[in-house]
Amino acid sequence: MKVRFGICADLHVDFIHDGVWRFEQFLDECKKAEVDFCVQLGDFCPPNGNQMKDKECIIKKIEDYSIPFYHTLGNHDMDANNKQEVMEYIGMQNNYYSFDFGGVHFMVIDACYYEQSGLYIDYEKGNYKKVSEDARVPVLPPCELEWIKEDLQKTIYPTIVFSHQSLVESRAGIQNADVFRETINDAPKGVFAAICGHEHVDRIENKDGVWYMCVNSMSYYWAGSKYKHETYGKEIVEKHPRLESVFPYQEPLYAIVDVTDEAIYVNGVESKIIGATPEQLQFKKIGLTDKITASVIDRTIKTNRG
Ligand SMILES: [Fe+2]
Repeated sequence: MKVRFGICADLHVDFIHDGVWRFEQFLDECKKAEVDFCVQLGDFCPPNGNQMKDKECIIKKIEDYSIPFYHTLGNHDMDANNKQEVMEYIGMQNNYYSFDFGGVHFMVIDACYYEQSGLYIDYEKGNYKKVSEDARVPVLPPCELEWIKEDLQKTIYPTIVFSHQSLVESRAGIQNADVFRETINDAPKGVFAAICGHEHVDRIENKDGVWYMCVNSMSYYWAGSKYKHETYGKEIVEKHPRLESVFPYQEPLYAIVDVTDEAIYVNGVESKIIGATPEQLQFKKIGLTDKITASVIDRTIKTNRG
């Protein structure tokens, strides 16, 4: 087993003024590291009216990139569009799919659905925000769980799973993540790790021998309007008012990951928060237990083969 990939999450190009620069840094570093492929974990670059110039530039960079680039859908990608529109724009064929590299099976899944009276409704044009907090929880529909099961039965390699939302219990995880975890128990070749984004924190935990890692946002932590503060100066904030409500990260965060027979090696980026820190603002969020850091720290993750 030998594969190297670049991974990033939650660029949120709509909210920020320097998304192209951040994304370019990622692509350049991945190229230097000679990765086999890149993957982004959602909340990326949807085709709605904001920042269209930046978005077009990012899409062009992916089209011109010489390394395979894989996408994951995130909830905010469907704030103004449906899934089909987003997928066509970013160049994604299916909302869930799998592929192989260097003796590892990679699976990209989509939990951007909510359940209502037994129906599984795709996130579309912000519909999920119009139902209550409890009702909008992301969920994996039965047909996708069935596909996950079959795909894991078929593969001849151990698997790494990519999703936008977490597959372990967390502040913003997938409602039926427990069903997913039961399903992967039966995978003949096993699942090494499940990697998500969405929460804009740097976290890892082991559950039943599988590593669950959350990749921090490439750009910022969302503080909310209660914690508005100045970071970038008037000119930038006038054009990008949401920047007042975030803790921006100075450098773009991402990781270069090596998978070998011994372990998974995560080579991250450590940066710092621009402006006031969460501690200085005495920032609190209900249910948040993770520390807010501008980092994806380096880790050596021993797999059950290592
Ligand atoms: Fe998200």
